[in-house]
Amino acid sequence: LKPFIVAANWKMNKSPDDAEIFLKEFKAPAAAQAVIFPQALCAERVSRWIPAGVQWGGQNCHFEKAGAFTGENSPEILKKMGASWVLVGHSERRTLFEESDETAAKKIKAAQGCGLIPMLCLGETLMERDEGRMQAVIERQLREGLKLADFAQPLAVAYEPVWAIGTGRVASTEQVGEAHLFLRRILKNLTGAAVPLLYGGSVTPQNCGELSRVPEVNGFLVGGASLKADAFAAIAASFN
Ligand code: 13P
Repeated sequence: LKPFIVAANWKMNKSPDDAEIFLKEFKAPAAAQAVIFPQALCAERVSRWIPAGVQWGGQNCHFEKAGAFTGENSPEILKKMGASWVLVGHSERRTLFEESDETAAKKIKAAQGCGLIPMLCLGETLMERDEGRMQAVIERQLREGLKLADFAQPLAVAYEPVWAIGTGRVASTEQVGEAHLFLRRILKNLTGAAVPLLYGGSVTPQNCGELSRVPEVNGFLVGGASLKADAFAAIAASFN
């Protein structure tokens, strides 16, 4: 893995045509690994137009490779289509689709078993932060989510405080620094590996420079600002 990873989570946006237009415009960064996470309906088109040096992945997958799971996406097929990555446990999956730490753990195992790199997403809600439970919550999400992981294989973690996602309310550099240092210490003990630790939540071309200099920030997971090729390229260039 490159030392910095800048990922675009397009969520439930962009048609295959939109995805193709984006990929033709997008200039891959020199220093960071760019990764595109399109919705599954765009996977085929993205696999065809992904620029050299850029990777892509699924926003979600099931924890079985195949079978009677109507509406789900197979990690094995994702891999066969050329995906390198899959997001696991995004806060929208947790809050809107009732995903648990346990399913996250199973998905990470399945993804690694298929040769995909899982990116475990975690982060506290505003209420949890206000109640002083930020550290307890993200430690639980990290330990439980990685329970079945193989630390000899690559994986990444994205810290995305729920209150900063899609709100325009970016976490301060102090808040990001504190959470990342806390997660880094646990990760080091747990894995013994250099696991990339990304920040996500209202990252923009305006605030990415400052955030990229926070210790233990090894990249970004970008939602809204990743929908435009030039904005996402500007963010990806913050690690140059
Ligand atoms: P925004 O960048 O739109 O806040 O979304 C962050 C996110 O959820 C990325 O996974």
